[in-house]
Amino acid sequence: MADIAPSAGLPRHVAIIMDGNGRWAKQRLLPRTAGHAAGINVVRRVVRYCADKGVEVLTLFAFSSENWRRPADEVSVLMDLFVEALARETRQMHEQGIRLRIIGDTEAFDGRLRRRIAESEALTAGNTGMTLMVAGNYGGRRDVVRAAQRVAEAVQRGELAPADIDERLIEANLSTANMPEPDLFIRTGGERRISNFLLWQLAYTELYFTETLWPDFDESQLELAFQDFASRERRFGCTGEQIQAGSAVGR
Ligand code: IPE
Ligand code: IPE
Ligand code: MG
Repeated sequence: MADIAPSAGLPRHVAIIMDGNGRWAKQRLLPRTAGHAAGINVVRRVVRYCADKGVEVLTLFAFSSENWRRPADEVSVLMDLFVEALARETRQMHEQGIRLRIIGDTEAFDGRLRRRIAESEALTAGNTGMTLMVAGNYGGRRDVVRAAQRVAEAVQRGELAPADIDERLIEANLSTANMPEPDLFIRTGGERRISNFLLWQLAYTELYFTETLWPDFDESQLELAFQDFASRERRFGCTGEQIQAGSAVGR
């Protein structure tokens, strides 16, 4: 449900495309993978900052379903870093009350990473603080296709008719089911595109783009994004006058 208020305030759900690691490394004449390693430190800081601020859900795009197209050695380093980061950071996140969830097609990952994911999710499953969703081997189109398949199966079982299919039902079958929609989308690294991230979910999200490369991103830059978000007027199809008068009708 969209929350309609004149001022956007603090985003409940922040979704970030962490981009620019490769260019950061290239600027320093380092291999691209050095940029990915540097990016992990920023993840830790951003997670902590969002949790402290009271953000309910933070979704980080770590690996897209298209990133398999990269050179095999880069993909392999990314997988190793994913395993190491989970091994190193889970306990601390657990202590901060963070619930970790990985969204995306994790079946494609090797056994070692799948086990780590299962362990980290199980350890933090009962936490009631911020939910950290890490999108790994995630594609927004695939997410919608999966939801459509699940709904089609329910129709086939005779549990519902095609006319019963509505937005709520699709939403309930997406990997982000039960989460509020993203309020604020941030992409670092200067590109102005969605790159198959949360396609359905971003329908009314406020978009924020920064030139800063991910390894250079920090709390002060995140605060700037939050301030920019707080100044936006979210209209959800209404007029600005309706929003200011508080007479807007929720979805
Ligand atoms: C984002 O940084 C990290 C992943 C996609 C895994 P990039 O590796 O895309 O960095 P650039 O865009 O090449 O600088
Ligand atoms: C999106 O970044 C995916 C992640 C940050 C994980 P990319 O760097 O892969 O996006 P494109 O290829 O520039 O669109
Ligand atoms: Mg990139």
